[in-house]
Amino acid sequence: MRYSYLSSAFLLLPAVSAQLNLFARASGKLYFGTATDNPELSDRPYVAQLKNTLDFAQITPSNSMKWFATEPSRGVFNFTGGDEIVRLAKKNKQLVRGHTCAWHSQLADWVEAGNFDKKTLESVLDNHCRTLFPSSSYAWDVVNEPFNEDGTFRETVFYNTIGLSYISTALRAARAADPKAKLYINDYNLEGLSPKSDGMANLVKKLKAERVPIDGIGVQGHLIVGQVPTTIKENFQRFADLGVEVAITELDIRMPLPPTRELLEQQKKDYQTVIAACKAVKKCIGVTIWDWTDKYSWVPGVFEGEGAALPWDENLTKKPAYYGIVDGWKSKTK
Ligand SMILES: *[C@@H]1O[C@H](CO)[C@@H](O)[C@H](O)[C@H]1NC(C)=O
Ligand SMILES: *[C@@H]1O[C@H](CO)[C@@H](O)[C@H](O)[C@H]1NC(C)=O
Repeated sequence: MRYSYLSSAFLLLPAVSAQLNLFARASGKLYFGTATDNPELSDRPYVAQLKNTLDFAQITPSNSMKWFATEPSRGVFNFTGGDEIVRLAKKNKQLVRGHTCAWHSQLADWVEAGNFDKKTLESVLDNHCRTLFPSSSYAWDVVNEPFNEDGTFRETVFYNTIGLSYISTALRAARAADPKAKLYINDYNLEGLSPKSDGMANLVKKLKAERVPIDGIGVQGHLIVGQVPTTIKENFQRFADLGVEVAITELDIRMPLPPTRELLEQQKKDYQTVIAACKAVKKCIGVTIWDWTDKYSWVPGVFEGEGAALPWDENLTKKPAYYGIVDGWKSKTK
């Protein structure tokens, strides 16, 4: 009995040859991390890996710090879900990226239904960001998804009511509430050179010129197998040259289901390409995957017939993609 217990325990030891965060640190990065969500925290095998700092030194709450959860009615704040994740991260000495203050989606209904005038909505936004921030996060996606694909500004309740200054209102409120947190603007389809990433570069330039606090550009990284842009490194470098840091904040690389060997191998290469681009740009400071197992990926629920986007499969087993990330961190940079 005792021997069989010992031998099975031995087989459960993780292979020590590859660990995502260790390799990120060895590449001069601050962290490799993952998003997580509160309902998943009752899954014990899941949590055991979530806490593994050899792979993850950073956590992002994927839902529980969003507006619908944190200020469900005006002036009534609820940090129960967010605090649960912050506590878990602190206990495991993992950094937290807060997510998010000014965003048009997963908003509380009252923000749009109120038909507020400019002054009132400015104070609503200011109050929301100020109240969110004193939560000791390393960094925050203060503004999320402000752009259209052509680089113009998305017409949200904040943009339409307040104008472009809603972005500086949110950033200034965040800085006042938590002077130490790194303040980010975060968006998708910003990986390569494009009209949308031009829009982000121009916005950050303008904010810097106006002395609005801005510390980083968050590149979400929701990508498709076989369609990774070829200009990631060049784009990250021009972002960094604006005097901000860059982080990949929500990486996943989806494929048509079911996964085939060829698709899994291509996915491995694609992860390697993205990680190597971050490695090559000094101010790309870290990478977060948008949860770590296909069991809890948002992809199949949103993109019909697609999924298998993460480095671990639905049974919490490492896929080739995991080793693609390792290869990315080990790649030589010029
Ligand atoms: C606060 O949020 C938690 C987690 O989502 C929820 O269970 C709880 O009911 C909320 N509290 C109130 C007073 O709405
Ligand atoms: C996960 O395990 C189940 C049950 O053994 C199996 O049917 C399924 O194919 C596995 N999934 C993957 C992606 O290997």
